Amino acid sequence: MTGDMHIRKATLDDAAACFALRREAILARCRGHYPDADLARWTGGEMSATFAGRVAEQFHVAIADGQVVGSGMVDLSTGKIDAVFVRPAYMGRGVGRALVAHLECLAKAAGLYSLQLESTLNAAPFYRSLGFEGDGQSIYESSLGVSLPCVPMTKRLGG
Ligand SMILES: CC(C)(COP(=O)(O)OP(=O)(O)OC[C@H]1O[C@@H](n2cnc3c(N)ncnc32)[C@H](O)[C@@H]1OP(=O)(O)O)[C@@H](O)C(=O)NCCC(=O)NCCS
Repeated sequence: MTGDMHIRKATLDDAAACFALRREAILARCRGHYPDADLARWTGGEMSATFAGRVAEQFHVAIADGQVVGSGMVDLSTGKIDAVFVRPAYMGRGVGRALVAHLECLAKAAGLYSLQLESTLNAAPFYRSLGFEGDGQSIYESSLGVSLPCVPMTKRLGG
């Protein structure tokens, strides 16, 4: 990514943008990997207060052209990465890679030795290119009650 993309801690003011880009990213890239009805349920509804609270407490956002173009979070008590989404118009330009690298730095600084995540079926090659391993399948239970096949992956944090 060229230009002035940067990553910062999210605030409550970013919640609506994060909710919108999550929906856009899923509908753009997960189609064909999951039944349309499951994607509609996964992305449907209004933003909940729980989602907004998670954004304010745990999300980090990528900013480019004055707007939120990506999101991601790592739970520093477990090393679990979640909510990695990039706005479709900014995909393929290194935003996802930069977000995961940022979360990895936070995890290392917190003294964690490994990261875990449950990748969507479409994103597993992306995570593999960033050094994550895993090719099994399990079921991701979304907070909206949708069960989605996913790929559990881990990455050992060196040094
Ligand atoms: C997956 C996602 C976060 C990747 O973000 P992105 O900004 O487009 O990815 P980047 O441009 O940083 O790509 C980083 C590397 O991964 C590779 N990559 C990205 N998506 C890929 C894919 N679908 N298949 C294979 N490789 C992929 C890129 O080629 C790049 O490798 P390189 O640096 O060696 O060229 C984004 O496509 C997205 O939001 N997808 C939909 C939502 C989703 O499934 N999120 C994951 C939830 S677990």
